[in-house]
Amino acid sequence: MKEISMHILDIVMNSIKAGATLIEINIYDSIKNNCLIITIKDNGIGMSSETAKLVTDPFFTTRTTRKVGLGIPMLKEACERCNGSMEINSEIGKGTVIKCCFERNNIDRAPLGNMGDTIMTIVNSLEECELIYNHKTDEGTFSLNTIEVREVLDGASIKSGEILLWVKEYVNENIKSISII
Ligand SMILES: Nc1ncnc2c1ncn2[C@@H]1O[C@H](COP(=O)(O)OP(=O)(O)OP(=O)(O)O)[C@@H](O)[C@H]1O
Ligand SMILES: [Mg+2]
Repeated sequence: MKEISMHILDIVMNSIKAGATLIEINIYDSIKNNCLIITIKDNGIGMSSETAKLVTDPFFTTRTTRKVGLGIPMLKEACERCNGSMEINSEIGKGTVIKCCFERNNIDRAPLGNMGDTIMTIVNSLEECELIYNHKTDEGTFSLNTIEVREVLDGASIKSGEILLWVKEYVNENIKSISII
């Protein structure tokens, strides 16, 4: 079973490939409401409604190197396996929103995984693109915005080893401080 953070990484890589300049990841993790909701939003090239419907089929991809795209179908499968669902809203020229809901206490729900590692990997893959990450639980909220991080860095690279490690630890520490069981 793939950790949900790995699916998030796949979906964000699609947004980067789609030329997004702003990507937003929202996680809502609640015991109270027994749900884990993840939304990934980008302002990339978008998809036609026909493509958006087709991408959930593992035999569809616009890649020319091979015919099978797996990122979206695998996430859909992970949601549906635990009584959840996935929804894609996309518009050409505007961008894409992928929303997934998982039944939190379902035995087949994959663990969220290490979001610090995932966010660090994403930040390291950003070119002319910013990331906003919001994480909300029953205990509180945490946000990371690369625009704000860059401001503090005052021209230094956000991709230096030191900063990337800081991003990873900052994310993990903050998630821990609002984590629920
Ligand atoms: N955010 C997005 N913006 C625009 N098009 C997208 C986006 N996400 C997915 N697509 C389109 O949907 C197709 C399928 O995506 P999916 O992640 O399932 O497979 P893939 O990226 O082609 O291959 P894989 O993820 O297995 O490496 C992509 O090839 C792309 O054409
Ligand atoms: Mg993909």
